[in-house]
Amino acid sequence: MINKKELMKHAKIASTLSHSPYSKFKVGAALLTKKGKIYLGTNIENVAYSSALCAERVAIVHAYMSGAKKNDFVAMAVIADLPDPVTPCGECRQVMSEMLNEDMPVYLGNFKGKIKETTIGKLLPLGFSSMFKQLK
Ligand code: THU
Repeated sequence: MINKKELMKHAKIASTLSHSPYSKFKVGAALLTKKGKIYLGTNIENVAYSSALCAERVAIVHAYMSGAKKNDFVAMAVIADLPDPVTPCGECRQVMSEMLNEDMPVYLGNFKGKIKETTIGKLLPLGFSSMFKQLK
């Protein structure tokens, strides 16, 4: 199984595919499965700015579209060229909380090799997904 540094390298490769002519901010994500498969995602922007897709959500959709399921995932890496490790936006945290296991490691990185390890449970405490499970 590959380690967080290696997974981060895949996320960095994903960031080179970014379509971000408006923000010029390239983000890459890599989602690893138990079987060692890696699904990449990058941010894809649009002139209608709110139509932009974030790297994290693109990686998740990529994985699900390829047949992977929530319990298949073991880790996610996200990277951008910032002084501190990039942190996912609120919308991505919401999607991650439903599509990934809450305690799965999430590695946040930058191009200088800094890596912060967290989980979606920590990134989105008291998320709405847990409320939904209580609905009868
Ligand atoms: N972006 C991501 O892809 N992931 C994040 O975690 C934060 C923001 C993208 C969206 C947009 O294309 C650009 O970064 C600037 O916000």
